[in-house]
Amino acid sequence: MAVVITVAQQKGGAGKTMLAANIAAALAATRRVAVLDIDPQHSLRRWHHIRDARPVAPPAIAFFDVSGWRLTAELARLRSQFDVVVIDSPPQLDTDARLGIRGADLVLIPLQPSPPDLWAALGTVKLAGAERRPVKLILNRTPAASKLRSAVEAAVAAEGLALMAATLGNRAAFANAFAVGLGVTEASPKSLAAAEMRAIIAEITGETA
Ligand SMILES: Nc1ncnc2c1ncn2[C@@H]1O[C@H](COP(=O)(O)OP(=O)(O)O)[C@@H](O)[C@H]1O
Ligand SMILES: [Mg+2]
Repeated sequence: MAVVITVAQQKGGAGKTMLAANIAAALAATRRVAVLDIDPQHSLRRWHHIRDARPVAPPAIAFFDVSGWRLTAELARLRSQFDVVVIDSPPQLDTDARLGIRGADLVLIPLQPSPPDLWAALGTVKLAGAERRPVKLILNRTPAASKLRSAVEAAVAAEGLALMAATLGNRAAFANAFAVGLGVTEASPKSLAAAEMRAIIAEITGETA
């Protein structure tokens, strides 16, 4: 039975698709991984197309983009066939996003250290709470230390929530890897971005990636 990780956050541009792609790519070397793209913008599908067309095939990631009324049954099918299913969801709290959250073992919510990202994240946290799903908040594009970061950390704590210890910096390596259909752990394994992504994986899985 697979572990289903749903990346959700109603704010666009928060890093959902980047995170979904990188988690899938980091785990694909050692696990049977599927990605399920329920965002109608389908940027994860484009990433996967580019990955499939690479001259030297990277570790396989199966791609699915079922949404709507078929989503729940499809997810049950994927659970039985893969070790990990990563769902990339749309930038709104619509029915598909709700079903993606409902089907998750873990809801990952990326947020940049700014008030609008936090406000949007809290809406997603509330939905996950209504569905009784565990959530983890990940600071993305964050400077090592800043007033904004501290303010967001305090606001998250005031909501009784915790940020993941691992965070992601604002690094070109993320965009560069995405553009060629890879994750940072594949495209630039020695980069800071890859080290950050491995820390995220370790915190999610409880293992060293
Ligand atoms: N940590 C990061 N460092 C650099 N660029 C990033 C980072 N996270 C996201 N981006 C870039 O920001 C843009 C929006 O990210 P994306 O994953 O598409 O957000 P979402 O799916 O939440 O709308 C993309 O161009 C992506 O490459
Ligand atoms: Mg996206």
